[in-house]
Amino acid sequence: MSASLEKPARFAAFSESFREEFYRLLEARRSIRKFQQREVSQEILDRVLAAALQAPSGKNRQNWRFYVLRGEKRDEYVKLSQKSWLGIKDVLVARLKPSLYDFTERFFYTLGDAPVVILCYSINDAEERYHTSIGSVYMAVENLNLACVAEGLGCCTMGAPLEIKQEVDQFLGVDKLAEHQAGQLELLCGVVLGWPDHDPPKAARQIDDRIVFS
Ligand SMILES: Cc1cc2nc3c(=O)[nH]c(=O)nc-3n(C[C@H](O)[C@H](O)[C@H](O)COP(=O)(O)O)c2cc1C
Repeated sequence: MSASLEKPARFAAFSESFREEFYRLLEARRSIRKFQQREVSQEILDRVLAAALQAPSGKNRQNWRFYVLRGEKRDEYVKLSQKSWLGIKDVLVARLKPSLYDFTERFFYTLGDAPVVILCYSINDAEERYHTSIGSVYMAVENLNLACVAEGLGCCTMGAPLEIKQEVDQFLGVDKLAEHQAGQLELLCGVVLGWPDHDPPKAARQIDDRIVFS
């Protein structure tokens, strides 16, 4: 092979065993909603957050911001989460079977005892299309999810905080920021994170009509 066709090392195929492990990691990820009462070290947290920042983003704007809550701030947030439950429980009671409803209610009340709560915001501006900005943040959130699996951690991405969006903004004090007042800083989801204390079954995946080849 001539020198000009040689690939940089980072593009070289990973080993077969690594590839198998990688797909196993994707399959192994589940939403974890029950956590051990054990802290996550700063070092590990730094690693999974650094993984989030490796995500692609529209025009490379890296338009995400993660507010990481631990300790007392996390405890205060749990109280807000309880309030969000009151806003959605009537919808869920009709949709979920009773055992799942009870589990979900407990989760909202305790956040599964997760020691870490991350509130994920997008920074939207007129330079980038709205949906692309949102998509970029979710790419980072997925990186975070997968890095958790690699570390033996568990996490659950949550849309529930959106039920109390304004309260969350005030709770974090982001409502006082100029970018928030300009309508550019937007809460997209929460991620609760910690050491798993249950091993839920894999949620079934639909295949029919989800991929269309032509
Ligand atoms: C954008 C988004 C919002 C979600 N919101 C919640 C939530 O508010 N509460 C919750 O318990 N799970 C939430 N989940 C987790 C989903 O319920 C879960 O991903 C889905 O049931 C598939 O299960 P799995 O993650 O174990 O594969 C959310 C997931 C995503 C991607």
